[in-house]
Amino acid sequence: MTPDLRVRFAGIELKNPVIAASGTFAYGVEFEDVVHLERLGGFVVKGLSREPMTGNPPPRLYETAAGMLNSIGLQNIGARAFLEEKLPKLRAMKNVVVFANVFGYTREDYEYAIQMLNQGEGIAAYELNVSCPNTQHGGIQFGSDPRTLDEVVTTVKRFAERPLIVKLSPNVTSIGQMAHIAQEAGADAISLVNTFIAMSIDIKTRKPRIANVTAGLSGPAIKPIALRMVYEASKSVQIPVIGMGGISTAEDVVEFMLAGATAVEVGTASYWDPRATEKIAADLSRWCEEHDVARIEELTGAMQV
Ligand SMILES: Cc1cc2nc3c(=O)[nH]c(=O)nc-3n(C[C@H](O)[C@H](O)[C@H](O)COP(=O)(O)O)c2cc1C
Repeated sequence: MTPDLRVRFAGIELKNPVIAASGTFAYGVEFEDVVHLERLGGFVVKGLSREPMTGNPPPRLYETAAGMLNSIGLQNIGARAFLEEKLPKLRAMKNVVVFANVFGYTREDYEYAIQMLNQGEGIAAYELNVSCPNTQHGGIQFGSDPRTLDEVVTTVKRFAERPLIVKLSPNVTSIGQMAHIAQEAGADAISLVNTFIAMSIDIKTRKPRIANVTAGLSGPAIKPIALRMVYEASKSVQIPVIGMGGISTAEDVVEFMLAGATAVEVGTASYWDPRATEKIAADLSRWCEEHDVARIEELTGAMQV
């Protein structure tokens, strides 16, 4: 019997729980010749802002033990160009689910970008990246301060004409508290984790490996911490949780689902194998078959303590 891999959250049904993560899958169209996009649960496009952004100066990527540092600086073509140049191509594809990741530096930036994206057709939901410094609050990250998180989610929820997934930063003291705040402010689902603030130094030159000095750590190195955070977040909310952080195999997906995730995102794995997302989805089907899991959604939160 073919296992049923379908999962549902925020009124959306996915054919399987594997979603390509924002920032590692461009705008989806660029992967068209590499990945059978219709075999994925869905994909999240690179973070979009109200205006185009050029990002940080290089070097902005560095490989670490079992992980990667990046400080791309949220380079993107902007919400309007996404609507005009990318979305029509995505809309022409059959059987794909597209999520738009959105970020800003002020509440008004988020408002503006969301209102613009509301005009486009073919976006299943918004994923709100709250890991940027809020320029109106002295540079503190929206997602690391309970008050600014509440403010930005409440604002966006008022304007969003699509379901809202709030993507949480792991750089906080209590992930459970932040997850709960996102839920109370109107999130339809939460996703976590974004990257961990980290750094590396070239001891020969005594210079930082990344021009911006600090950067975000992702990949297998962060998996056990991400898993713990998904577990804690899912215990403190009733809305669905989308888990990510270092996932590179079907077994990793099962682990995140047992910890409480309804679906997962796969990011850095696409850097060493551009077909990773599709392979993980196929392996997941085999894994369920071999382990007599008829419906994958039964795994969510099924860890036995
Ligand atoms: C190069 C790069 C760019 C990223 N850009 C974004 C982004 O634009 N918006 C966002 O919410 N997350 C972004 N992320 C974070 C990933 O979506 C994901 O949360 C994180 O990398 C952890 O998952 P992973 O270990 O599977 O990569 C980026 C990650 C990487 C490696």
